[in-house]
Amino acid sequence: MRVPTELEPLVDQGVVDEVVRPLMSGKEAQVFVVRSRGETLIAKLYKASENRSFKHRSQYVEGRKVRNSRDQRAMERKSRYGKEQVEQAWRSAEVDTLYRLRAAGVRVPEPRDFVDGVLVMEMVVDEHGRPAPRLADVNLHPTEAQDLLRQLLSEIARMLCAGVIHGDLSDFNILLAADGPVIIDFPQAVDASGNPHAKRLLIRDVDNVVGFLSRWLPHLRGKAYGQQMWDLWTRNALDPEAELDGRFRPQRAPDRKEKSRSLMEELDALTQKSKDRAERLGVAARPARAPKFVVEEPAAPSPPPAEASSGDKKKRKRRRKKKPTGEVETAPVVEAAAEDDDAVFDDLDALLSTD
Ligand SMILES: Nc1ncnc2c1ncn2[C@@H]1O[C@H](COP(=O)(O)OP(=O)(O)O)[C@@H](O)[C@H]1O
Ligand SMILES: [Mg+2]
Repeated sequence: MRVPTELEPLVDQGVVDEVVRPLMSGKEAQVFVVRSRGETLIAKLYKASENRSFKHRSQYVEGRKVRNSRDQRAMERKSRYGKEQVEQAWRSAEVDTLYRLRAAGVRVPEPRDFVDGVLVMEMVVDEHGRPAPRLADVNLHPTEAQDLLRQLLSEIARMLCAGVIHGDLSDFNILLAADGPVIIDFPQAVDASGNPHAKRLLIRDVDNVVGFLSRWLPHLRGKAYGQQMWDLWTRNALDPEAELDGRFRPQRAPDRKEKSRSLMEELDALTQKSKDRAERLGVAARPARAPKFVVEEPAAPSPPPAEASSGDKKKRKRRRKKKPTGEVETAPVVEAAAEDDDAVFDDLDALLSTD
C-alpha cells in the first residue's frame, strides 16, 4: 500500500521495509501492520491532539516526571514549545511504560522502536498467526472467563507492583493471544505512587475487567477486587501470584477510647512483668515512673528518684558502665535486673511516644 506520510521517515531510515495494511483506527491512534527485517510488526501512529477523544488528560499525567526542568516549566506555562513537549511526553509515555512493564514480567507487546513519535512493536497474534482479537470481540465459556479473571488480576497486580496503573483498561485494550491475554494501549498510564487519582483509576480499571467477565460469571457482581488490591498494595502485601477473593471490608481505625484502653492494658502488663522479674531476682522493684504526660511540679531541689528523663537514662547507662576500681563487684543478678528493667522502661517510652 502507499506509505502514509507519517510513516515515511521510518521507511527512509530502514526501520520499516513495507507498510502492509491499516489494522485499526482507534480513538487515539492509527495502527498499521508493517514488515521489518522479515518480521511482521505493528506501527502505532498517534493522532494529532485535536483529533483525539481522550478526556481529562491532565489527571493522568499528574506525578509523571519530566527529566528536563526547563521543559517542565514550559509545559506548566502552556507555551507553544510547552504544548509540543506535552504532546511528545504523551507519545513517549507508552514506549517507556512498555519497557518498564516488560522488565517487570507483565504481558505487554515488546517495543522495538520509537521513531518520530511512531511506536513500532511486536504484533500480538492468535493461534493462526493473525492479529489477536480483543477481549471485547470474543465469546467465552465460564471456565475460560474464570481463567482470564485469575490471569488478568495477576497482571494488573504485577503492573501495580511495578508502580503502573493502566488508566484505560477495558475489554478493548486486552488482546487474546494464543498463549493468554496481553494488555495494550498505555499512553495514559498512571504513576501509582505519584498520582492523586491512582486509587480511583485502579479501581475503575479492575471494575471494567471484572464487570466484563461477570457476563459469564454472575457471582463476580459486587465483588471488590480493586479495593482489595489497592489495600494490599498500600500495605506492601500485594503478591501478584496470590489469588484474590474480591472481599474487602475497610478496617476501621480504632477510636481514642479504644487506643487509650489498649495502651493502659499494655502498660499494666509491662509493670506486672517488671514486678515479677524483680520478685524472681529478689531485688526491690524500681518505683513506678511518673508518666510523661503528667504535669510535673516546678523544679524541686532534688528530683524524685522515679523521674527518668532521657538524660537520666543516659546517666543510668553511664553509671552502669563505670566499674569502680577496687570495689567489690555488685551481685551480677542485681546488674541483670537493672538491665532488664531498663528494657522495660525503653518499652514504656516507646509506648508513651505513640499516639
Ligand atoms: N501490538 C499489537 N498487536 C496486535 N494488535 C494491536 C497491537 N496494538 C494495537 N493493536 C490493535 O489496534 C487497536 C488499537 O490500538 P490501541 O493501542 O488500543 O490504540 P487506541 O488508543 O486507538 O485504542 C487495538 O484494539 C488492537 O486491535
Ligand atoms: Mg485502545
